[in-house]
Amino acid sequence: MPNEEMLLIPGPTPVVDSIYDAMAQETRGHTDPRFAAIYKSAIEKTREMLKTDGEVFVISGSGTIAMEMALVNTVAAGERLLIISQGFFGDRFQHLAKAFGIQADIIQSEWGKQVDPAAVEEKLASHSYKAVTITHADTSTGVAADLDTLVPIIKKQGALVILDGVCATAAMEEDMSKSYGEGKIDVVLTGSQKAIGVPPGLAVVAFNGTALAAREQMEQVPAYYCDIYNWIPIMHDPQKYFATPPVNLIYAYDEGMKLVLAEGMDNRCKRHEAYGKAVRAALAEYGMKAIAEEKAAAATLSCILYPEGMDDAEFRASLAKKGVIVAGAGHMGNTTENMLEKAIVLIGETMNELGFEADIQKAADKFRELALPVA
Ligand SMILES: Cc1ncc(COP(=O)(O)O)c(C=O)c1O
Repeated sequence: MPNEEMLLIPGPTPVVDSIYDAMAQETRGHTDPRFAAIYKSAIEKTREMLKTDGEVFVISGSGTIAMEMALVNTVAAGERLLIISQGFFGDRFQHLAKAFGIQADIIQSEWGKQVDPAAVEEKLASHSYKAVTITHADTSTGVAADLDTLVPIIKKQGALVILDGVCATAAMEEDMSKSYGEGKIDVVLTGSQKAIGVPPGLAVVAFNGTALAAREQMEQVPAYYCDIYNWIPIMHDPQKYFATPPVNLIYAYDEGMKLVLAEGMDNRCKRHEAYGKAVRAALAEYGMKAIAEEKAAAATLSCILYPEGMDDAEFRASLAKKGVIVAGAGHMGNTTENMLEKAIVLIGETMNELGFEADIQKAADKFRELALPVA
C-alpha cells in the first residue's frame, strides 16, 4: 500500500510497504504459537537493538504509557525524582510524578539549549534522588541531551537513569551495555511510531538489572497494567496471557525491528545525523532558523522558526496540498534521502507561491551535499 502523503512530522513517521504488508497478515489468537513466535522474536530484536540483558517490554500503549511504566516501577511515592528537561516532553514527567506522589525537581534548559551539567551536578549533591529522567530528543525544541556528559554525573551519585527515547530510539545511540563512568543507562522507553517507523500503538520499555532491583525493593507499585511483574512472564513466554496484545501491530513491529537490525544501529545513527544536518542546512537557505543550537540539535528533528511574516497555518495547508505534511520537521525512521529532497523542493515552491523568496536550487544542492547517499 503506497503512502499518498509524505508524513514529515515528529511521529507517526512514514510506514514502508513491508511493514504494512506484515500488519495486514491474518489476525491470529494471541496465544497461538505462530503469533507467540513472532512476538518473542520482536522482543528479542528489541533486546538486540538496545544491547540489554535485562527485561524488555513491548505492550499496547503510546510513549506516555512507556513513561509511566518506567517511572512507577522504579520510584515510589515520597521518593525523589530529578527531571532534566529540554522542552514539553521533559516537563511531562512532572505531571506523571505528581499523579504518583513522587517528589519531583526539574531542571529546565533555556529554550533551544541543553541543560547546564553544573546545575545537574549541584542538584544531585543537594538531595538523594532515586532516579533522574532524561529526554533524549525533545520533540518540542529539537534539542538532544548530551548523554556522554550527563549519565556519568548521575551515575556518580548512584541514581537510576531513565531515558525517554521516544524521538530517538532506533536513530540515536542508546546502548544499554555502554559504561558511562560508574554505571549504565538503566531504563530506556519509547513508542513504535517514531524512529522505529511502525504505526502508533506500542509502548516499548527496557529495564537493566539495576532498575529491576529497584522494582524488587518496592513491594507493590501503584499500577496494574503498568506493573512490570504482570508482564515479565508474558515477555518470557508470549503464549501466556496477561492482557491481549495488539496482534497485527506486533507483526508490524517485528518487521520494523527487522529493518532496524538489517541496517545496523551504527549506520542508522550516521544516516539520521546526516539527514538532520542536511535538512536544517537546506531550510536555513530558505531563512528558516532551527530552535536548537546546531551542536545540540537532535538528528531526528528540525524544529524551526519561519522567516518573518510567514503564517504557519497557511504554509502548512499549502504544503499539504502538495502531499507533504509537516509540523516542525521530523525526519526519522524509514524516511529516505529522496523523500526529504523532494520535501525541500516542495517547501521552496510553497514559499515562492506565498510570496517568500526561496532559492530551491541552492537549498536542494545544500541538502544533497550533506545527506548521505541511500544504498
Ligand atoms: C520525547 C517524547 N516523549 C514522550 C512522548 C509521548 O509519546 P506518546 O504521544 O506516544 O504518548 C512524545 C510524543 O511525541 C515525545 O516526543
